[in-house]
Parts: sequence; C-alpha cells; structure tokens
Amino acid sequence: MRVERMLAAAAPCDTPLAVVDVSVMEANLEAMQSRVAALGWSLRPHAKTHKSATVARRQIAHGARGVTAATLREAESFATAGVDDILLAHPPVGPAKLQRLGALVARLRRLAVSVDSVEAVRGLPAGVEVFWEIDSGHHRLGTLPGEASVAGVVRLVDSIGAERFRGLLTFPGHAYAAGDDSALDAAAMAEKAALLGTAQDLGDRGISVRELSLGSTPTLAHHRPPGGAPDRTGASAAPAGTHQPTALRSTENTLVEARPGVYVYGDAQQIALGTMRRQECALAVIATVVSTPDRHRAVIDAGSKALAADVSVARLRGFGVVVGREHLVLERMSEEHGVLTAAEPTGLRIGDRVAVIPAHCCTTVNLHPAVLMVEEAGDWWDPVVARGWQPGA
Ligand SMILES: Cc1ncc(COP(=O)(O)O)c(C=O)c1O
Repeated sequence: MRVERMLAAAAPCDTPLAVVDVSVMEANLEAMQSRVAALGWSLRPHAKTHKSATVARRQIAHGARGVTAATLREAESFATAGVDDILLAHPPVGPAKLQRLGALVARLRRLAVSVDSVEAVRGLPAGVEVFWEIDSGHHRLGTLPGEASVAGVVRLVDSIGAERFRGLLTFPGHAYAAGDDSALDAAAMAEKAALLGTAQDLGDRGISVRELSLGSTPTLAHHRPPGGAPDRTGASAAPAGTHQPTALRSTENTLVEARPGVYVYGDAQQIALGTMRRQECALAVIATVVSTPDRHRAVIDAGSKALAADVSVARLRGFGVVVGREHLVLERMSEEHGVLTAAEPTGLRIGDRVAVIPAHCCTTVNLHPAVLMVEEAGDWWDPVVARGWQPGA
C-alpha cells in the first residue's frame, strides 16, 4: 500500500478512519480472478468482507459469477447494487428471515442458501435453491463428509426435490489455526476431499451434485493448479511420497466455485499466515497518537471500536501491523484506546498519525460507516452499505 498517499488523503479528516488504496485492491481482485481461473473454478467472493455496493460491482466486473453473503442485509444491499446471483451462506431460520428471502428471490435471477439440516429449509420460499454444508474440519456448521452428509442430502432432496438441490458447500475456517504451511496444505486438501468424496457417494445413490462450493483466502493460496504449477506461496506439486492433491476442476456436469472474502483488502492475519504479502494489503486504519506515557508506550485513538479484536491466528503478535514502524506492537486495546509498545523507544509524539493494517479486515470494516477510497482519479467515500442488522418487523 502507498501509505504516504493514504496518510495524506486522510490528513483533513478526523481519526480513526478506514482508508483503502484502490490500486492495491484492484490488483487483488485481478489476481484472485486469475488464480481461480487457473484452478478451473469460478469465483463467488464473500462480500461480507467489504459490505460495499461498489466493491461488489467491481468484483463482478472482474469476472465473479455472483457474490456470497452472510446476512440478509448484505444480500438485499447487493441485490440493490445490481448483483443478480447471490448465495446466502447461512441457514435462514425463523419467519422474519423467510419473509425477507421471499421478497429477495423475486428480485434476483438466482438465489441459494446453505443449510446443514432439513429443519432449516421448512417454509423456504419457492425458487430458492439449496446447498448442503459439509464440515471439512472447522467444526462450525456442517455434517461430516461421507455417510452423514449423504443421509442429510437424501432427506433434503426428499423434502425440496432434486431440482432445488444445487450442491455441496464447505468452509475451511480451521485454516486460520494452521501452525505452518503443511497445516494450510492439509486444510486445502481436506475441503477438496470432503466435497469430492461426498459428491461421489451421492452419485452412487443416483443424486447428482451440480455445484461444489469451497474456499477461504488462506486455502486459496494453497490450492495448486493442475500440472504442479506453483501455488500462491511459490510451492509446486506435493513432494514425492506425500499425498498428491486430489484433482478438482469444473466439468460439464459439476461447477466448482470458490468463496474467498478477505483477499480483497488483505489483513495482518493473512500476513502472519504467509498467505498475503504486506504490500498486497489495501486497507489501513489511520489513527492519531494521543498520549506517550513513556518512551516505550504510545496510545492511539483507535481501539476495539475501530479495529477488529477477533484474532484467530496464533502466529500474529498484537492486533495489527503498524505500517513503516514494524518495531511497534499494538499490544492491547480498550474501546477507544490502542496501546502501542516497543522494546526500543517508540519514536512517536503526540499528534503523530499511524496507519494500522488490522488483524481482521472484515470485522474492522464493519465498525466504520464509510471507507475513504484513495485513487489516482480522485479520492471518494464508499459507504459500508451492508453493515448492521434489521431487527424491526
Ligand atoms: C461460509 C464462508 N465462506 C467463505 C468465507 C471467506 O473466507 P475468508 O474470509 O477467509 O476469505 C467465509 C469467511 O468467514 C465464510 O464464513
């Protein structure tokens, strides 16, 4: 990221402030589109990362087939932005959600949800298609690969009919706990194997699986294109004697779709995992030093209400990376205070500004009403339109 340019753009504004280097974001959109194409897959980015109508449209312009959403608010906002093919990767349980889905499906060319129970499709509006979620190791949602998932899909197809069963989905969130590259490789292998094995078992039972949906930013960096070409980390095919990656490509009968989210902005967790480089991070929170209680400690005006506090990568030290001042650790946060520490003097004075690449970009963006987009053609404000909930009737 061009941090000097971002700091200059933020200079007239109060802090804390979320800023994006649009040229870096655009390069990320292009790189992921090419990477997924090289794997023989389609891209359906998880748009909960940015919750932005403009960024969703840019992802589609780069070739994404549609977007993934986690909330109805997101799905409705992206529909309003003109995206006509949406996957709500969350079970839509309860009458309020079903009612909103009914209104939404009428506005879209294609709408699907993912579930891991037949109970979750009761009352599902006509026209909404369904993915069955498999647990490939994250242990959040999903039935185990193989027999448990086959039994679930058989019940699902009995309930909604084969036409509305679109395929199998998994989310390899356990990749964030990976201690090294081989654990990331294993998470990528596990998601492929879970989908392929279960699809094959379903085929043997006469149930065709039209789509396989997988992925996260960390595992996308560890899937190897066919032919042993290097993956995102520079490694080529698995070394002799190790388990060879299972081949998975879209075919005439089965489309494979990837759902990375974080890649659009990048964050300190990806840097710590080795799945994105620092210069590929597009988002920073600009903060002001408000206190320097001693030479080894400075306090900024950005705490857990401006920077994500949900760190799941053990390898990351602190709550972000302070760009250009890597000797600093964002060691603690309270709501409006971030405490920077350093073994050597911090070198910071009251009034200085710093740019922090947050630990987790998705939950950081969700804290900001708008993001300042820094672009050669002129800077602009991008409202984070899809954030929040709609609790009312
Ligand atoms: C169901 C689902 N799919 C895809 C993603 C995207 O993964 P990432 O944010 O690691 O890119 C997420 C992220 O939480 C998710 O929950």
